[in-house]
Order: sequence, then structure tokens, then C-alpha cells
Amino acid sequence: MFKTIEWFDGKVRIIDQSKLPFEEVYLVFENYQDLAEAIKTMKIRGAPAIGVAAAFGVALGAKASHATQTSSLLDEINHISEVLAQTRPTAINLFWALKRMKEVASTHACLKVDDLKRVLEEEALKIARKDAEINRKIGEIGKNLINDGDSILTHCNAGALATVEYGTALGVIRAAFEEGKHIQVYATETRPLLQGARLTMWELMKEGIPSTLIVDSLAGFLMRKDKINKVMVGADRIAANGDSANKVGTYSLAVLAKENNLPFYIVAPTSTIDLSISSGEKIPIEERGVKEVTQISGVKIAADGTNVLNLAFDVTDAKYISAIITEKGILYPPYLKSLAKLRKYL
Ligand code: MRU
Repeated sequence: MFKTIEWFDGKVRIIDQSKLPFEEVYLVFENYQDLAEAIKTMKIRGAPAIGVAAAFGVALGAKASHATQTSSLLDEINHISEVLAQTRPTAINLFWALKRMKEVASTHACLKVDDLKRVLEEEALKIARKDAEINRKIGEIGKNLINDGDSILTHCNAGALATVEYGTALGVIRAAFEEGKHIQVYATETRPLLQGARLTMWELMKEGIPSTLIVDSLAGFLMRKDKINKVMVGADRIAANGDSANKVGTYSLAVLAKENNLPFYIVAPTSTIDLSISSGEKIPIEERGVKEVTQISGVKIAADGTNVLNLAFDVTDAKYISAIITEKGILYPPYLKSLAKLRKYL
């Protein structure tokens, strides 16, 4: 089994997702700057995975510090966190992990430099271990929403590659399959970076889960033709009212699901919930480079000079979401109430 991200011999090792599925190469990072660049360029991606990468980044940066005083190390940690925070704006998991690392650093400000470095490494490892645990829990809880014979649509990649292991939306699908349910999965290719075609299909095929790749624009017609009977996707940030940001195209799928009377589920750990944001209007949406749209694997598909808008995420209004599956249980509308009940865990 591949490892999405791990702390290895005092360094961080990731599988290079930009090369999958054709090459299974691992990259090893000895400094946080290179790891930050790998997050930006999506060699590692997916909300929970970039949260763990950010935590490891802080541990890595602290480890390499030459500070002799704890106060200087704390200043450096703040700077390292700022650099990591600049990588990708939408997934709250990244900021959640940075906040947690900074809090741990400041509550241990009385320690000597080397001891604080060790505490930070342990905390990052704890975040990583917990992510794997949480995903299995989400799978256990969510699989009850999948029936024998279901045909499920998923978008982008919310699988093992988007987390430390197992996955969120794909984790639920995996758990239902492991239980012996006969299911069929439709994966959208997910333009422009093709996470569905390259990553989700790779994962599903490895597991032997019956799956079919479709172009993004076929999803609505398949719902209409009763080929799909539920939709399960991940999330990058869930606002206090339940509005959820996820890979661009998710909103269209949710509207189509509603039109076709199909349940639309968001699957995410509680670290994806941002109660500080009242609605999806306030979720920062990442805008990425033009070439991601005008080229596929380096081959031009649009005339030079083409004007492009490349928003990497969109926001699905809470009214389209049938339920939000978390490790703390399944939340139902009204989300303002059901999400608020989770405040004590966040
Ligand atoms: O741009 P990406 O590939 O990082 O986007 C990933 C998604 O949108 C996922 O669906 C989301 O992060 C949830 S992953 C468990």
C-alpha cells in the first residue's frame, strides 16, 4: 500500500501526486520551504493531507532551527507557519493544523529548545495518526448510508491520497465495499487537474471496487437516467451554516442531485469545519494559474493569449446537502444547529 505522507527518519516523505498514476515516486523533504512548495504545486493535495503536511512542515522547520533560546525558536515557528499558510487558501485543515502546532509551541514555551522541537515532532505525528483513525471512524459511520446495489458518484479525490490513509468520501465507499456491499462508483475526471481520472480511479482500481470514469459533464445525464443514486464528496471548508467548499464542479453536482431527487452527502473530518465563518460567502476561493486550463500535461489546448478564470473550488449551499458525515456522527439540517453542537470538539 502506498503512503500519502509520513515522517521518515526525521524527514517528510510524500508520494508525488502530480506524477500519478503513471509513476509511483516518493519525494523526501528536509526543509519546510520545499515542502511548502510541494503543497503549492499540488504534489500533495486534499484538505486533510495538506493539514498534516503543514504540521510536519512546522516540525521540520523547528528541527532545522539554529535557535539557542526558546523565544527565538518561537519567533521562527511563527515565520514558518506564515510561509506554510501562504500555500493554499481554501482548505481550513491547513490553518487548523498550523494553529494547533503554534498553540502547542506556546504552551510549551518553558521548555528548552531541543525539548520543544521534540514536542512539536510528536504533535505533528499525533495529528497524522489521528487523521488515519478519524477516516476509519468516518467510514464506519458513513457506510450505513450506502445500500447494497448503490451506484455512487464522487468528484475529485477524497481518498487515501487526500488524507494520511483510507480517505473521507472514498473511505465511506471503501468501508461499504469491505463490508460486502455490491456497489458501483462513478468518478468524474475533475478538470482541470484530473484528480478523479488520475487519482480516484487509481485508488478504486487498486481496491477492486467496481468503478467507471466519466467526463465531468456526463454526471447530470447519468442521474437523470437513474444510473447514479447518490453523490458523496469531500470538503475543504464547511461554514457554520453548512455551506461547503469543495473542488470546482461540486456545486453543479449538488444542484443536479436535487433536481433528480438524489441524496447529496458531504464527508469530512471535524477539522474541516470553520465555525468562525457564518456562510460560504466568506470562504476564500483559490484562483490558480492559467496553464492548468490552457494545457493538459504540457500540451496546449487553447490559443495563446486565451483569457482564463481558474477557480479551484466552489461553494455548495447548505440547502443542497442532505447530510454531513463526520467522525462525530452524521449531521442533518438545520446545520447551524447540528454544527454548533460540535463546537466542543473543534
Ligand atoms: O485541489 P485539491 O486536489 O486539493 O482539492 C481537493 C478536494 O477538493 C477534495 O475533495 C477535498 O480536499 C476533500 S479531500 C478528503
